[in-house]
Amino acid sequence: MKKKKKTGFSTMAVHSGEIRYNEYGSITTPIVQTSTFIFKNTKEIKELAKKTAGRFEYGRYGHPTQIAAEGKLADLEGAEDAVLFSSGMSAITTTLFSLLHAGDHIIITDDAYKRTLDFCLTCLERFNIECTVVKMCDYDAIEKAIKPNTKVFFSESPTNPYLNIMDLERLMRIFKGKGILVISDSTFATPYNQRPLEYGIDIVIHSATKYLGGHNDLLSGVMLAKKKLTDPVREYLKITGGVIDPHSSYLLIRGLKTFELRMQRHNESGQKVAEFLERHPKVKKVYYPGLRSHQHHNIAKKQMKGFGGVVTFEVEDNIACALNFMSRLKIICIGPSLGGVESLITHPATVSYYSISRKERLALGIKDGLIRFAVGVENVEDIIDDINQALR
Ligand SMILES: Cc1ncc(COP(=O)(O)O)c(C=O)c1O
Repeated sequence: MKKKKKTGFSTMAVHSGEIRYNEYGSITTPIVQTSTFIFKNTKEIKELAKKTAGRFEYGRYGHPTQIAAEGKLADLEGAEDAVLFSSGMSAITTTLFSLLHAGDHIIITDDAYKRTLDFCLTCLERFNIECTVVKMCDYDAIEKAIKPNTKVFFSESPTNPYLNIMDLERLMRIFKGKGILVISDSTFATPYNQRPLEYGIDIVIHSATKYLGGHNDLLSGVMLAKKKLTDPVREYLKITGGVIDPHSSYLLIRGLKTFELRMQRHNESGQKVAEFLERHPKVKKVYYPGLRSHQHHNIAKKQMKGFGGVVTFEVEDNIACALNFMSRLKIICIGPSLGGVESLITHPATVSYYSISRKERLALGIKDGLIRFAVGVENVEDIIDDINQALR
């Protein structure tokens, strides 16, 4: 039998999920900007209750622009279904709340996104859900942390800010057949560079605020999995209420159409910037999975198509020196976040970790001279010139 040709990534990015041949014949999916969907008559209400009508009821329970964006994301990730949320954190908290019950146990890796760790260690513990934090990539520690009541293992790859890479094949050898749901926050990788579901990961989460949206103009998160896992989360979202609004759904659809092109540029420029920084005498160390010097370079090469636009590096180990360098940049903007068309630079010690003592921060590996750079899609020569003049 002739094998069906797989649809190309950009073809899916442009066409998947779109509401084509809509009422007005517009090629773009309409922004259905409404909070409620009215009924023509009471017969329609009855049909809705019997679920015989494929229609919408109330914005918090789902709306057409959201469904279109979800269809596109599910195809891009190769997932059966996708659920969109108002932010990445909403995707993480709603998913975990929906899956976990009092008395359950979750394992999370130590360099997960700070707010995800905060949620597990503060909120979940308050509801009697036990949390064990294990060292990222310490596979023996991960295996030893499993208890009879372990329900979820949560990790990221690559991580922030050191871009550590989880060996997904090795991870799944630990969890296979144990009935524990494995969740991977793949925000830094994106479905273009890494395909966790193909390794048997149960649930993939992204902050769509980053590369998926890609233009630093929206907040969103997405959870992708088999329908048997997304269905209960979608129901739970109706209670927690962190739905994406119609306008942000449209911006996400719009951003995704150029997703492959943007990722190709992020990957190429990320590599060039990392190589430039590694050669620079004023840079002490560079962390980028595409560099041979990165501790997880071989795993990254095996399981990733490209290494993205985030490059972390160290200048002189002193806060004033790092801030002085950043304030001299002319094109690159200072600010948190990543994955957008504009290059962004941040100093984790003063931006993300300002609320804890220096001693605690250093124990987490966040040094005074550490800088996280999210390469945008500007011309890479201009980005490199900008960094070079500021370092000088
Ligand atoms: C890896 C990762 N996951 C989740 C989040 C949270 O996403 P959002 O800011 O969209 O809530 C972030 C935000 O920076 C992140 O970096």
